[in-house]
Amino acid sequence: MQPIQAPFPATRLRRVRQNEGIRGLVRENYLAPADFIWPVFVRGGEGIIEGIPSMPGVMRRSVDKIVEAAQEAWDLGIGALCLFPYTGLEERTEDCAGAWDPDNHVNRAIRAIKSALPDLVVMTDVALDTYNINGHDGFVVDGQIINDETVEALVRMAVEQARAGADIIGPSDMMDGRIAAIRAGLEADGHRNVMILSYAAKYASAFYGPFRDAVGASGALTGDKKTYQMDPANSDEALRLVARDLAEGADMVMVKPGLPYLDICRRVKDAFGAPTFAYQVSGEYSMIKAASEAGMIDEERVMMESLMAFKRAGCDGILTYFAPAAARLLNHR
Ligand code: PBG
Repeated sequence: MQPIQAPFPATRLRRVRQNEGIRGLVRENYLAPADFIWPVFVRGGEGIIEGIPSMPGVMRRSVDKIVEAAQEAWDLGIGALCLFPYTGLEERTEDCAGAWDPDNHVNRAIRAIKSALPDLVVMTDVALDTYNINGHDGFVVDGQIINDETVEALVRMAVEQARAGADIIGPSDMMDGRIAAIRAGLEADGHRNVMILSYAAKYASAFYGPFRDAVGASGALTGDKKTYQMDPANSDEALRLVARDLAEGADMVMVKPGLPYLDICRRVKDAFGAPTFAYQVSGEYSMIKAASEAGMIDEERVMMESLMAFKRAGCDGILTYFAPAAARLLNHR
């Protein structure tokens, strides 16, 4: 749609930018705390809140302290929490059994949050990397990441999360067939309304570096994830993955990382019109933090501009470590 435009000076496009009032009237996109999913790291122990060196301002919390973060999210109007476990090497095994342990850090945290704040939306991550001795998202046999056996384990993991009370299951593993298998597993266990937000277009990205430190995987990972995560050179493939995951029963889809992949967000939204999310990942967060700590950029403004970019690109919501800071700012306007 090309608007009819009289030539200058009848048309002065600057007229509708002349003050905040008119800029507000013609503004096309808005951010709200309800757009944010806040990723939080849960660890063992009690009364612990510790910083993560690679992610300034982001904390790991023991289960009791997670409930405080959940309360903060609730008070700020943040859309959802997404839980990730921190697991030391001593908590990791080759068979990844911790992943479907009903009492692992994440499942205990879900129960604690749900008993304090039953209406707060809680999302989980489904992948074996945080329980795997070698840091991979699937089982490794003879140096290969094996698909189908991994999918069976992911179903057990997802079902335990649903039993603990998770609202949204977030498979981030990139195995084939996992959405259909998890959907079937959830239905069979009676979790008809538990949703799946599929990490459908997840790239093999160097932007995840600080996260691997946060979850205790940086020393653990052997090799790379290129046989299951996407090649950053590809775009059509993202559409095939999203189509596949929606057909298998995903309720919502995600593009990850975020800012360097806004073209993918836009294509996915235009092609499917499904609820679309982007993950502004650890490396994106830490770059903004580092640049602002070095006095090179204005942290608040860059944060808000980067988050707005996702809305403009068609995203319905954003997973972001900035969730509480951005929500605080939006609430105090
Ligand atoms: C693991 C997982 C990763 C992230 C979310 N889930 C890391 C990876 O795939 O290696 C990255 C999140 C971030 O960087 O903020 N399946």
